[in-house]
Amino acid sequence: MSLVNDPRWTEVDRYVEDTLVGRDEALEASLAAAVDAGLPTISVTPAQGKLLFVLAKSMGATRILELGTLAGYSAIWLARALGPAGRLITLEIDPHHADVARRNFARAGVADRIDLRVGSAHDTLADLAARSVAPFDLIFIDADKVSYAAYFAAVLPLSRPGTLILADNVIRKGAVADTGSTDANVIGARRFHEAVAREPRVSATAIQTVGAKGYDGFSVITVLE
Ligand code: SAH
Ligand code: DHB
Ligand code: MG
Repeated sequence: MSLVNDPRWTEVDRYVEDTLVGRDEALEASLAAAVDAGLPTISVTPAQGKLLFVLAKSMGATRILELGTLAGYSAIWLARALGPAGRLITLEIDPHHADVARRNFARAGVADRIDLRVGSAHDTLADLAARSVAPFDLIFIDADKVSYAAYFAAVLPLSRPGTLILADNVIRKGAVADTGSTDANVIGARRFHEAVAREPRVSATAIQTVGAKGYDGFSVITVLE
């Protein structure tokens, strides 16, 4: 399957940014800092960041868990949806990414709401479960794609009925529907959806998206019981 990105996808993302998302100096500075530090430009887009904010706000989320911090761009959107008493725990394996994120959190004025845990999310999730932390209202899975099925299994015990679980980058330019794919990330997305489908404690869908980052999409999962 091949597809050329249509320039309208980026133009419409700019339109949505100009009309609905608005400008935010700290968020823009966080992306500039990521580029300056040599981090990959794979943060969620402004329109997607705003979606995270809108969903978290609409739920009244006070406890949010993120897997994959990078420079903290999506984390700042999520933290902005929390009141001052809310908490975001975000997990990042790369200490350099974590350093950039910490500076971005301070600049955005949300450092006091964010608990950034450096280490493999597999280990940190096991640690959170062992310590029986209170369940999260919203969980955003956006770390390494091959581990998504394992992350789903590990976050389910950290959820409660009504928890919203979102997972980024699960459509893979449409390759998720390719049963014969040998791409590790595609196989990861397929295994993730199979694990979600098999799990009776959740109900889920996946939404394809186009935009400035091309053709991809995200899964939306609600915990039932
Ligand atoms: N959520 C960010 C983008 C995350 S990119 C945003 O939209 O702004 C994916 C991140 O996951 C990278 O920073 C990468 O270092 C991190 N990562 C990869 N494997 C990981 C693991 N095993 N545990 C925790 N983080 C991991
Ligand atoms: C890519 C995009 C992402 O949103 C992400 O979390 C990781 C990688 C990418 O385009 O490579
Ligand atoms: Mg992503």
